[in-house]
This record gives sequence, C-alpha cells and structure tokens, in this order.
Amino acid sequence: MKASHFVLADDLSSVLFDASTIATRVRELGVEIARDYADHPPLLVGILCGCFPFLADLVRVIDLPIEIDFIGVSSYGDDTVSSGVVRTTKDLERTIEGRHVLVVEDIVDTGLTIRYLLENLRTRRPASIEVCSLLHKHGPTALPIRYVGFECPDEFVVGYGLDFAGKYRNLPMIGALRPDLRASK
Ligand code: PRP
Repeated sequence: MKASHFVLADDLSSVLFDASTIATRVRELGVEIARDYADHPPLLVGILCGCFPFLADLVRVIDLPIEIDFIGVSSYGDDTVSSGVVRTTKDLERTIEGRHVLVVEDIVDTGLTIRYLLENLRTRRPASIEVCSLLHKHGPTALPIRYVGFECPDEFVVGYGLDFAGKYRNLPMIGALRPDLRASK
C-alpha cells in the first residue's frame, strides 16, 4: 500500500472530484468572488456542518477583508434522503442587516435547505444575499445559485464535508459511496 493511499476512500464506488480538481475550482471561485465583491466585502455564512472544508479553503483564496459566521441546519440526519423538514441547530452570532451576505454550502440537492435559509435570512434585511455551493444537483430546484463549483451527478456523494451518518466528511476527495455501505447503516 502506498503511504499516500487514503484507506477511507476504499468505501467509494467512484471518485467524482479529486483533491487537486477541487483545489483548482475553489481557487477559481475565490478569485471570482474577490472580483465581484471588491468594493463591498461580504459576510460569508457557512452552513454547518457540511461547509467546513470548503469554507476553510475558500476564505483563504478570497483576498478581501471578509467576515465569517455560521448557521447550523440539518435535514438529512443519518439518512440518505431528505427528511423534508429543515431543523435549525445553531443560529448566527452576528446581525446581517445591511450586510452583503454570501451563503456557503457544500451541496444544493433538493434545494429544501437553501430555500428555507434564504427565506429566513431575508427577513433579517441584508443588503444583498447570494449563494456559493461547491456542488449542485440539477433537480427541480430552479434556485438562483450565483457561484457553483461543480454540477453533481445524481449519486449519493460523500467527502470534503459531505457525510453519510456523520462519517466521510474528512475524505479529501468527493465520491459516490458504495451502495452496499449505504444499505448497511
Ligand atoms: C446537507 C448539505 C446541505 C443539504 C442539501 O445537509 O450539507 O445543507 O443537505 O440538501 P437539500 O438541497 O436536499 O436540502 P445535512 O442536512 O445532511 O446536514 P449536514 O450539513 O450537517 O451534513
């Protein structure tokens, strides 16, 4: 076994986006965001828990005096399909009134989570609100996602923040979880 082999990756049936592909795309997004917000640095709102590796990498390539806050929501629990109910697990620490808010997500799948959040955050009267999602599954969402890292195939994906029953968030790549492991929860 090579020293660089990540054993947890054996649980994937395929790698969709490897670590270097992700890093390249995150840099591109950071440059684009820095350019778009050059004269009004945003407050980035990371959606816990899945956003944490993406947000950590993204903020380090946005060369602006940004601020960061987190909001916690959950709709999947330990399951592979959305429960259909979004639960708030942690609110923002800061007020966003009058701020240019950029919501950072790991994935927009059914769109339920982001729709709920946008509705909630808009009531707090930010100056503007946009979404940056690393992955986007093309479902019936029809939501305006300003920054998308990658279009995501219709697979159950894990890694780089995305979990299955709390695991796999620490995988450096994003891949499809082996179907036999999904069944054995
Ligand atoms: C995941 C993911 C998104 C949401 C996307 O969160 O991080 O927030 O689902 O799915 P949707 O578009 O179908 O709503 P999850 O509820 O699994 O919580 P987590 O971030 O803690 O993993």
